[in-house]
Amino acid sequence: MKRQILMTCALPYANGPIHLGHMLEHIEADVFSRFQKMRGHECIFICADDTHGTPIMIKAREQGITPEALIAQSFQDHTADFKDFSIGFDHYGSTNSEENKKLCELFYERMKAKNHIHKKPIQQLYCEHDKMFLPDRFVKGTCPKCKSPDQYGDSCDVCSATYTPEDLIDAGCSLCGTKPIKKASDHIFFRLNHFKSYLAEWLPKHTSPEVSKKMMEWFNEDLRDWDISRDDPYFGFGIPGEPGKYFYVWVDAPMGYVSATDQWAKKNNRKLEEFWSENSSTEIYHFIGKDIVYFHTLFWPALLKSADFKTPNKVLVHGHVMVNGERMSKSRGTFISTRVYLNHLDPQFLRYYYATKINGTVNDLDLNFADFASRVNSDLVGKIVNLASRGAQMLSKKMDGVLSDLDPAGQQILENIRAQNETIANHYDQRDFSKATTLIRELADEVNRYFDEKAPWKTLEPNPVETKKVLTTTLNAFRLLAIYLKPILPKMAEQVAQLLNEQPYQWSDLSRTLKNHKINDYVHLANRVEMDKINAMVEEQKQIYASLAKPKVSQSVKQAQVAEQKPLEIEFEDFMKVDLRIARIIEAEEIKEADKLLRVKVELASGETKQIIAGIKSAYAAEKLLGRHVLICANLKPRKMKFGMSEGMILAAGDGGQDLFVLSPDPGAKAGSRVK
Ligand code: MSP
Ligand code: ZN
Repeated sequence: MKRQILMTCALPYANGPIHLGHMLEHIEADVFSRFQKMRGHECIFICADDTHGTPIMIKAREQGITPEALIAQSFQDHTADFKDFSIGFDHYGSTNSEENKKLCELFYERMKAKNHIHKKPIQQLYCEHDKMFLPDRFVKGTCPKCKSPDQYGDSCDVCSATYTPEDLIDAGCSLCGTKPIKKASDHIFFRLNHFKSYLAEWLPKHTSPEVSKKMMEWFNEDLRDWDISRDDPYFGFGIPGEPGKYFYVWVDAPMGYVSATDQWAKKNNRKLEEFWSENSSTEIYHFIGKDIVYFHTLFWPALLKSADFKTPNKVLVHGHVMVNGERMSKSRGTFISTRVYLNHLDPQFLRYYYATKINGTVNDLDLNFADFASRVNSDLVGKIVNLASRGAQMLSKKMDGVLSDLDPAGQQILENIRAQNETIANHYDQRDFSKATTLIRELADEVNRYFDEKAPWKTLEPNPVETKKVLTTTLNAFRLLAIYLKPILPKMAEQVAQLLNEQPYQWSDLSRTLKNHKINDYVHLANRVEMDKINAMVEEQKQIYASLAKPKVSQSVKQAQVAEQKPLEIEFEDFMKVDLRIARIIEAEEIKEADKLLRVKVELASGETKQIIAGIKSAYAAEKLLGRHVLICANLKPRKMKFGMSEGMILAAGDGGQDLFVLSPDPGAKAGSRVK
């Protein structure tokens, strides 16, 4: 029976590049989608950029562009990355669309009509300087538990404690450093608890047992109301009838699944209702990572239910990508963006490697570089592609390039491969690509054994007819393996179809045997992975990160600029707290890995020195500073920065870049003297 499937990947945020963590999900979903299509089902694969929310608004502000310009750029980058990785979306949209806005309004209207929402005032942290409420991630301070400085308002990167921003010690606005105040404002809440019993029944049927078990832990108590509004300024859709209020990004983001389907339907003369109406028989699958399960298995089905839409058949959850056994890390260069990967390595290799590890569970997946290289080289290149290169080259170069008949042993080999058809198909359908690739590899081993036993290179001269049968078997066997692998390696399958002079493969092509058939000249299918290339990739990523890393010190210059535009009054006592001193620079060196930083040692009184990591490299060569007297803030709390402790701040003025001037006293001022 022909199935109708609609599947989605989580919508990537438009404030950053696609990285190899995202790619796990896109590869998993793409393999699934290609498999379903090959089997003759209708499968519509949808995704979009997630474009709203505070981080995007702030990032655009930092770059001095509009949020619209930022998300347009991300859209270009993201879609190019996916295309180059052969991720075959049927439609890639954006949550910042007219369709999505309309949909949010419709959902809101329906939940309001059914009394699922209410309004109440809440207290939140607010930055009086930036005139905005601060989401948890925009508050920074010292961890209440382990006392590490510079931690976000929701959790500590050092000790992993979670807390609320109010618990932070010395909390400050992450944009300007100002101590936030508490301010009340009305928010709109969705009464999730209205759906408690519905969800309790829904979860076990539509998520895996491990996911549903975990989620059921929330059901011991009432489900908490969900805050769905945000106050101005916010980049998002306004809430009808609520001036100055916007839908929280997590409301309009999943609706992007529906609105992007709508866009696809319009392009293809289809109706949205066919897929998302409550009684639709389309199978809907959401592929997501384990970090966003709560949104997809509680809020989202409840929203859909409240608005009389169809809920997903399955929410399919994967784990996180680790690199060499550790969390992806920007400073180690293992937070690899898709583009950087593409600059060095063949995308098919990652598709293959991830596929060998994807097994439909929420376990994390380790991208181990040595293992990656050896899997690709020994399995894919050594066992699979090798069959084609040995078989086809001999047939075309040493013979007339025409396949013949097969001998009974060869026939048997093909039958053995075909016998696994439904098993392999079932593994794909269950998203256990690990089992599928293992089976395919074992079949390849069998064909390689056959080839080596028959040793056609030895029989070529004395017995060309028999030799041709062996090559015919080998190439037919390889062809079947390429068809099995097509969901994972679509590019290779395309090349194989060209080599063998055939149309693009469907699953049903497995039943065909090529006999007395002319093939084309062999074109090289895949290179080996060299460790050098992997290292070069990591190096490039490290460089990118180092050049983007924003040292806190240079931010002070930016803060000064902001302050210039909007003067912030402080009390005399506040000013008196600042210990400004004359200091003499006794050492200065360039920090090679950072394009803006110098490591400077200053002397205050004799014997009293401080190390300062200063963002003034763009304007000063290290040696030019030696011996100079400068003005520093001497009682700034020491900060551990990427390149060492910074125990003060050198005062400078200017726009940044080369236009940056350190402040120096008149001649005669002594190091250590306090500014009065
Ligand atoms: N914008 C939200 C999703 C909204 S869906 C209505 C979001 N975006 S994201 O860019 O942070 O993540 C997109 C997907 O990539 C998520 O499913 C997330 O789990 C996945 N991954 C992001 N980093 C990952 C790894 N390191 N490893 C595996 N998947 C990860 O969340
Ligand atoms: Zn602020």
